Amino acid sequence: MTTSFDAESSSPGPSRAGFVDDLIGVVGADNVLSAPEVTGSYLVDWTGRFRAGPAVVVRPATTEETAAVVRVCSIHGVAVCPQGGNTGLVGGSVPLDGGLVVSTRRLRRLDAVDVAAGRLTAGAGVTLGDLHRHAIAAGMAYGVDLGARDSATIGGTVATNAGGNNVIRYGMTRDNLVGIEVVLADGSVIRDLAGLEKDNTGYDLAGLFCGSEGTLGIITAVTVRLHRPFPEMVTGLLAFDSVATATAAVRSLTAAYLPLEAIELMLGPGFELIRSTFDLPSVFGRGHAAYLLVDCADATPVTERLASAVGDLDGLEDAAVADDGPRRSSLWRYRELHTEAVAGIGPPLKLDVSVPVGDVGRFVEQTIDDVEASHPEARVWIWGHAGDGNVHVNITGLDAASEEPCAASILDLVISLDGSVSAEHGIGRLKKDWLLRQRGPVDVRVFRAIKTALDPEGIFQPGVLLPDAP
Ligand code: FAD
Ligand code: MLT
Ligand code: ZN
Repeated sequence: MTTSFDAESSSPGPSRAGFVDDLIGVVGADNVLSAPEVTGSYLVDWTGRFRAGPAVVVRPATTEETAAVVRVCSIHGVAVCPQGGNTGLVGGSVPLDGGLVVSTRRLRRLDAVDVAAGRLTAGAGVTLGDLHRHAIAAGMAYGVDLGARDSATIGGTVATNAGGNNVIRYGMTRDNLVGIEVVLADGSVIRDLAGLEKDNTGYDLAGLFCGSEGTLGIITAVTVRLHRPFPEMVTGLLAFDSVATATAAVRSLTAAYLPLEAIELMLGPGFELIRSTFDLPSVFGRGHAAYLLVDCADATPVTERLASAVGDLDGLEDAAVADDGPRRSSLWRYRELHTEAVAGIGPPLKLDVSVPVGDVGRFVEQTIDDVEASHPEARVWIWGHAGDGNVHVNITGLDAASEEPCAASILDLVISLDGSVSAEHGIGRLKKDWLLRQRGPVDVRVFRAIKTALDPEGIFQPGVLLPDAP
């Protein structure tokens, strides 16, 4: 068992002075933070919904320092919350159940790109944006991308098995991960960064730690798969007369053999919110019920191919196409600014779910109807990665007592459609009561066995991912 420890506590529990002195002995006084004015941003999550009490933040710069920090925590019985960019959206990145934050942001190793093998090894604290720029400078590209790229770390994206904008082409983070380095609960280190294409020697440990949300160890470095970027890229913004025609178009576009990289869904109210919040132009001169943002990329020109596939779509009211970087980015702003715009209204109830692609339209319409009928005071904002059935449901204006029943009715609908209560953001604290329902008792028993085997004292992430013991 770990003892709750915070910056203010003395006894009972671990000796504060002894513990902090031991940490300082590992990383130096400058990298052990305890004053509230410097720890504040590490202790509240991106959504503002999860706020930890006072706690120490430690910032190791190497794998060896990280291992030594974990050993100190183990000796003193102090829980560990690994933290990267703190952009996680399910409450796993802050030590709500006590313990200290181990920030990985100084783990910034960035090796030379291995162009021949299509591999890159990076420290956990390298931001996704920096990793992209490093790969591109070497003529290569990394397949995982998301709106928080300039804050989210590569270690955090691996720990959450992040999805993002290009899953339909490159898969989730796990599909792009070929090597990992992890500090375990006893301070020992798994080192497997070779990134071999073929290596059938037992269990897939990188795959296991990917998506473990800090509950099994601290990821200190990873090796990821790179690909050659396509020279021809086009983005289309398609405006539809209804959610039903937009979501039906997802299926038509997928069937059209286009070299698709992204198919993203936006609805009229969200689009208008972005326009007014960020003072962006209207694009089409008037609003539409629903929009798809479509990216195609290939070795040969793609604009004509996209145009001909789009020409046949039912309910299409207008379209805009961009084939150069700056104009493509301008269209993507309407999509990527959703999270920030909705957060500006006040912390929403955020439900990241997936349903079979063919059910996205039905799910979206029913969710809006249900919430509007049961909570007329609330507003529903929906967007998502429609190409892979991933819908982000955000609800603002709910009173605190209504949040749980409202979430339950939406997640019940997801399960009834054979969907997932967490598509890409993870379980964290927000969804842990749904894990048993989603995965069943056998899976959860195996999860607990893995957790106990790797972290017998429960030092990593108390209160995260696994439901409380019955
Ligand atoms: P943190 O928030 O710091 O941590 C997240 C979890 O991972 C925590 O449980 C933490 O303990 C654990 N963790 C972090 N680093 C490590 C490590 N080195 N070792 C072990 N455990 C670790 N997510 C998507 O999947 N797709 C999206 O499209 C997407 N878009 C986003 C857009 C915005 C604007 C924002 C704010 C968030 C978005 N997210 C998205 C969510 C978030 O960016 C991802 O979950 C991301 O992977 C978190 O990375 P991070 O470095 O910020 O991790
Ligand atoms: C997105 O795709 O916009 C992200 O996953 C963030 C969110 O859901 O708010
Ligand atoms: Zn997303």
